[in-house]
Amino acid sequence: MRQQIVAGNWKMNNDMAETEMFLVQLKKQVIPEDVSLMIAPAFTNLNHAFQSVKDHPVTIVAQNMHQSDKGAFTGEVSAAMLKSVGVKTVILGHSERRSIFKEENAVLAEKVNTALIHDMNIIFCVGETLSHRETDDHFNVIEEQLEQSLFHLSQANWKQLIIAYEPVWAIGTGETATPDQAQEMHAFIRKTIAEKYSSNVANKVSILYGGSVKPKNAAEIFSQKDVDGGLIGGASLDVENFMEIANAF
Ligand code: PGA
Repeated sequence: MRQQIVAGNWKMNNDMAETEMFLVQLKKQVIPEDVSLMIAPAFTNLNHAFQSVKDHPVTIVAQNMHQSDKGAFTGEVSAAMLKSVGVKTVILGHSERRSIFKEENAVLAEKVNTALIHDMNIIFCVGETLSHRETDDHFNVIEEQLEQSLFHLSQANWKQLIIAYEPVWAIGTGETATPDQAQEMHAFIRKTIAEKYSSNVANKVSILYGGSVKPKNAAEIFSQKDVDGGLIGGASLDVENFMEIANAF
């Protein structure tokens, strides 16, 4: 059985006090045993968050990192820096990084390589825009994202990968892919990985859905055969909503 995961991507939300308040609340909750919970706070709060949940099963995740190990990259954070504060998992390729910060498949491949050199786990995001979907180009776009950023990896590397399918048109818009649309794309991603590697590799990789997942729609999305959980933005900022989603399997 694949690992079920609910990961909260806080984006540029929650300062130090808000981060602590959330984690204090989270620690009072009963955590479902078979679901792995993750939270990605801002860089400034990673160290504090990691210390705060040291004895708790939630994993603290970074939202991004630079592909270089060190140097003149003002404003950037390296894999070694993340590891030095206890963070071993990083989100790469989020659509906001792709669109606002112009991160393309090639640079994301470099980031993936660096993260793996540092033995980190990766939540790698793929997703199509509305115009890709309207022009029926969505499968091609996803295939290209996988091929250009991940398909140079070895089979063994895939143990450290989680895929998040996040249709850009569904992020922060209140618009969700229908459970059928999510299943269709998740199955496509799994098939594409199986064809490149093996069905053994494909069947073991967790594929999360992201884009306006809320307590009210989580159960239906998570019930799809190839959906192994969610990458949650807005709804992960509130402990109650986050826990309702974590309990939606
Ligand atoms: P959303 O964001 O849940 O607010 O749509 C998801 C994401 O961007 O990871």
